[in-house]
Amino acid sequence: MSKSYTESTYFFGQTNPAELIQKYGSPLYVYNEAILRKRCREIKAISNYPKFQANYSVKANGNLTLLRIIREEGFCADAMSPGEIYVEEMAGFEPQEILFISNNVSPEEMRFAIDRNILISVDSLSQLEQYGKLNCGGKICIRFNPMVGAGHNAKVITGGKNTKFGVDPAAIPEVKAILEKYQLKLIGINQHIGSLFLEGSEYLQGMQAALAVARQFTDLEFIDFGGGFGIPYQKQDKQSRLDLKALGHQIHQIFIDYATECGRELTFKIEPGRYLVAECGILLGSVTAVKSNFGMHYLGTDLGFNILQRPILYGSYHDLELYRPQTGEFLDKNNAKELTTYQVVGNICESGDILAENRLLPTAQTGDILAVLDAGAYGYCMASNYNNRLRPAEVLITTDGRDILIRRRDSLQDLVRGFL
Ligand code: LLP
Repeated sequence: MSKSYTESTYFFGQTNPAELIQKYGSPLYVYNEAILRKRCREIKAISNYPKFQANYSVKANGNLTLLRIIREEGFCADAMSPGEIYVEEMAGFEPQEILFISNNVSPEEMRFAIDRNILISVDSLSQLEQYGKLNCGGKICIRFNPMVGAGHNAKVITGGKNTKFGVDPAAIPEVKAILEKYQLKLIGINQHIGSLFLEGSEYLQGMQAALAVARQFTDLEFIDFGGGFGIPYQKQDKQSRLDLKALGHQIHQIFIDYATECGRELTFKIEPGRYLVAECGILLGSVTAVKSNFGMHYLGTDLGFNILQRPILYGSYHDLELYRPQTGEFLDKNNAKELTTYQVVGNICESGDILAENRLLPTAQTGDILAVLDAGAYGYCMASNYNNRLRPAEVLITTDGRDILIRRRDSLQDLVRGFL
């Protein structure tokens, strides 16, 4: 019998899903430290160019313990909000290790970063003006639109003509005029083509677009090429991984060629989020009901879309496994004896509350535990208290296989904390 993914990766270390849920409650986000560190090292191995810098895109998962591990692995960080800056500082990132990639922010939010000596990237002429007024003579970074995009869904493609992000490179003369007006020093440019590619051609094309912009500014200290490095969400169907080694060689070569062209060593940055954290995270939930209605089999769980939004927001697919506490079996569609096609649904009062549609799964019973794979990126951080449900706890399986609580579950008091 073939082993399930969690068994073959020894994902739960010395414990198992039933023990974890008994100890920390259901649902539960579980992270595996060894997998996290492995992915960090793969990204760092892209290039040995001395001024290659990998910035973790914290929006993918902002858990403080994970941030500390990622920092230990030699990463800097990008931030999208004062809240992310706040947590990054707590995790030990220094101001010069943080880039605030702002989008439509208020003067107060810019001031928050300026006061901390954190570099801001702006992505419109009006935000550049706003920055100039606040910090005349200061340093600045600008996000340009690479005019090429990629992503798993139109909602997450951030380059090209159909996106709010980035300055059109055609506006460079206006950019230069504003820089001049406020005596701003442009020290870096950045971009992001979008989230999740499994094949690197658009990324490489985007890099060339960034270099074309870079050539129009002298004295840049860095170029940041963005993130988007994808992971295979359909492992049970043997979906191929991104060939990071091959892509890494090409990326490295572009660094070397451009540094040679400039005759000096600039810093080159990338901003992976999902690649680091998606696969180290699994969401566990409980099968609370099974029912058949009008020819449809429903698997009722406590995994509403308040816990994991990706399926209803983007139609995202996550592999699923079942754990049966009575027998200790890890079942998936490749090793189970009996299969059923289910609508896997949550406990939120909307018909759209569907985690997986028409999904072939091991035939389930109440009391089984459902494991949602690759849930470490854009999982907990997008969870909400909709229906006044409690956000789950987060647990880390350490490299030596122990489980430790790294964020407690919400309490009922948390739900009413802000009321006056
Ligand atoms: N840099 C910038 C400027 C970004 O906006 C993002 C992601 C990243 C880097 C990291 O992208 P990654 O390497 O993680 O693909 N919630 C969606 C993804 C939204 C991505 C937003 N920006 C999802 O669940 O798929």
